[in-house]
Amino acid sequence: MIFICMSGASGAIYGIKLLKFLRSRDIETALCISENAKKIIEIETPYSLEEVKKLSNYYYENDDLLSPFSSGSNLFDDAVIVPSSMKTIGSIANGIYSNLTNRVAHICLKEGRKLLLVPRETPLSLIDLKNLLIVKEAGATVLPASPGFYGHPKSIDDLVNFIVGKILDQLGIENNLLKRWNSERFVE
Ligand SMILES: Cc1cc2nc3c(=O)[nH]c(=O)nc-3n(C[C@H](O)[C@H](O)[C@H](O)COP(=O)(O)O)c2cc1C
Repeated sequence: MIFICMSGASGAIYGIKLLKFLRSRDIETALCISENAKKIIEIETPYSLEEVKKLSNYYYENDDLLSPFSSGSNLFDDAVIVPSSMKTIGSIANGIYSNLTNRVAHICLKEGRKLLLVPRETPLSLIDLKNLLIVKEAGATVLPASPGFYGHPKSIDDLVNFIVGKILDQLGIENNLLKRWNSERFVE
């Protein structure tokens, strides 16, 4: 079970494509979408909120602090906050566990589970940079939504797949979504 949180940064499509991939592999997911993320899904993508919710096995509202996963006693394996707003990262870095997204992140860090954060903001303030350092030191993996261009991407889909592939790599899930650097030089 992978817990996916979508927060209100640009790049909702990263979360949607990750959910679609995990569904295609029958990997169970729980999903939480923040209020601003809901608006951004509508602004940036052709998907409706209901379509996105249906990509997961379990859906919880961000203010649902009574959901099963607001307690560390219910087991999920890893959590990914994608995209991750700097406000959400700031809350996690500063121990503000006022919504389900922040609480799931807190559980990962205190229980030693994998937490992947996919920030999207530019430029970054000193506060953002310090918060990123804090979450990294606390045990999270910071995977900025900054696709590489060495695979000669031809479409937005290629760019999105690069990031989703990197997330899946971190989760230990086999995928061919990204063109790997010089992979043709591998010898059998
Ligand atoms: C269209 C739109 C795009 C946004 N893009 C970003 C972004 O890329 N990165 C970011 O950190 N915040 C972005 N924000 C601001 C966050 O949505 C805002 O700080 C919000 O409070 C985040 O709350 P949440 O993390 O609980 O969703 C954006 C807001 C809007 C309306």
